[in-house]
Amino acid sequence: MCMRRLALVAALTLSASAHAADLGRELPHTLLGKPLTAATAPTIWPDGRGLPAGQGSVAMGERLYTERCQACHGERGTGGSGGHLAGRSRLDGPDPDRTVANYWPYATTVFDYIRRAMPPQAPWSLTAEETYALTAYVLHLGGVLPAEALLDARSVSALRMPNREGFVPAPEARAAGVR
Ligand code: HEC
Repeated sequence: MCMRRLALVAALTLSASAHAADLGRELPHTLLGKPLTAATAPTIWPDGRGLPAGQGSVAMGERLYTERCQACHGERGTGGSGGHLAGRSRLDGPDPDRTVANYWPYATTVFDYIRRAMPPQAPWSLTAEETYALTAYVLHLGGVLPAEALLDARSVSALRMPNREGFVPAPEARAAGVR
């Protein structure tokens, strides 16, 4: 198990044992402790199906990031216990650095992941607008979007991630029509 995953397990265990009830009260949007259903926790598909209405800018994402993400991912995504999010690096060395721009084939999946998993102690606590803004900021840090960008369902679905061609779909995904 990698250190980042260990850290996440530790964070989740902590929140479950000590803070779950408090967090549920403090954060009105969180689904912590509630059953997940397709209606309350919809999946976003690579092509954008399931994306909510709303929009968010890189600038708004930067403000949110400083408050809710920087403690674990460092200033401007440059590293910390949660791992480094910014930039692009080579994947062919002995210890490849899997940044968001390198390692995510779809921007829609970055949105889905942030909304359902981040911050780890309060999954599903971000609104649609906050998630669009944070996705925009993380993609800006990866050099995928300019500083003045605004994301919504249409634009996040239309984005092409820089390493998109570096992924080979699993046979099951290919059979299901995912390209
Ligand atoms: C308590 C620490 C913590 C906080 C706060 C946190 N994260 Fe994370 N984040 C992690 C950990 C740990 C991982 C790695 C999870 C794994 O590898 O399974 C991660 C992974 C990620 C990833 C995937 C990185 C990759 O390349 O695979 C993204 C994107 C991300 N976080 C965004 C955010 C955003 C946006 C916020 C603020 C809303 C946030 N995180 C807040 C700990 C944190």
